[in-house]
Amino acid sequence: MSGEKIKAPRGTYDVLGEQAAARARIEELARTLLEGAGYERIETPVFEATDLFARGVGDSTDIVRKEMFTFEDAGGRSLTLRPEGTAPVCRAFIEHGMHKRRMPVKLWYLSCFFRHERAQAGRYREFWQVGAETIGSDDPAVDAESITLCARVLEQVGARGVRLRLSSLGSPETRAAYRDKLTDHLRANETRLSDEVRARIDLNPLRAFDSEHEGTLAVMETAPLLIDELAADDLEHFAEVRALLEVAGVPYELDPTLVRGLDYYTRTVFEFTSDALGAQSGVGGGGRYDRLVEQLGGAATPGMGWAAGIERMLLAAGEAPQPAPEVDLFVALADDGEETRRCAFKLLQAARSAALPAQMELAGRSLKGQLSGAAALGARFVAIVSGEESRLKDMQDGGQQTIATDTVVHTVLRAQRAL
Ligand code: HAM
Repeated sequence: MSGEKIKAPRGTYDVLGEQAAARARIEELARTLLEGAGYERIETPVFEATDLFARGVGDSTDIVRKEMFTFEDAGGRSLTLRPEGTAPVCRAFIEHGMHKRRMPVKLWYLSCFFRHERAQAGRYREFWQVGAETIGSDDPAVDAESITLCARVLEQVGARGVRLRLSSLGSPETRAAYRDKLTDHLRANETRLSDEVRARIDLNPLRAFDSEHEGTLAVMETAPLLIDELAADDLEHFAEVRALLEVAGVPYELDPTLVRGLDYYTRTVFEFTSDALGAQSGVGGGGRYDRLVEQLGGAATPGMGWAAGIERMLLAAGEAPQPAPEVDLFVALADDGEETRRCAFKLLQAARSAALPAQMELAGRSLKGQLSGAAALGARFVAIVSGEESRLKDMQDGGQQTIATDTVVHTVLRAQRAL
């Protein structure tokens, strides 16, 4: 069989060297920040029962209608690669009886997700999110804490041009009444709407706020706004969230047209965008989901959370290539004899045991090639091993000394201490 090249599937990518370092940095800062704030790591399976998302995320959302990677297992069960993390975390909360823990339960994750979207810069079919969910409290302080933690992650990652849009969706009952009102408005202006919006008036009228179609935009200018219909307790909750954000010094813009692509939200919703991103400007977002746990079969338990995309954060940070890792010692071979090889390998192990970042020639290059390779790596010292004896070269000042191979590590450590 001929070896035709096989490429990675559309919308996926490989993580190579520098990218891996940048991602590791995000993971580390997220861990420090979120575990410091009392969040515990959770990882749920990559695939779940399809019904979890149909019920959790909502049958009428784009995610469930068009974007899920769904398949049948050998037993005929319908499974789906997770498109998001909130429904799985709530499933795990119920399954492990976490309601018995001290409330609220705070969980964070850094995981891959899958959506069959049109692939473009910043939009992938497999992507990664860091996210945090707080389950078991409806205190507005939880909303404000979630938003500020997301803001801090974005700030520490170095995302540029970040703005926060904030709104409240109230309760599902308020939303249902509002939906009827909005549907009436859309019906009354049906001829001016785009075909897409018109086709979905009954299914998801709120999505009309997302349209960029000229006629639709004009119709939406006079559309009723959900925020004007909120019940008194929802308004009070929202006012407190805003007051706490002001205390925390987190600027936001009220955006009553903010539509999130998931159905489980109640009350607070928010989205961070970055000017540094193109069309896919959402870098992180979330909100409150006070009915979700109940909807998935648990006892009525409020929840609030957010997720930020790793790839979009890297794009928004204009992630500069990370400097290559340091090499304190490069072990070169003066000859290709067996003794030299063994002494060199032993030296390499001794360097690593002493926590010295070290590398060794692995491709049989000439001594000249090895030295230029060591220089390209930015090695601080090169040991040119010739059996039991080595020539230790200081690459910064060019100084050289011939010493016993088994004293090289000690000599390098001493020289470093003197620096
Ligand atoms: P989401 O807004 O769908 O929310 O996704 C959160 C973030 O994931 C987005 O802001 C974006 O950075 C990233 N993202 C989404 N889709 C893609 C894609 N196709 N390619 C690259 N990045 C993407 C959620 O997923 C909710 N579970 C957030 C949440 C947690 N709400 C409450 N708790």
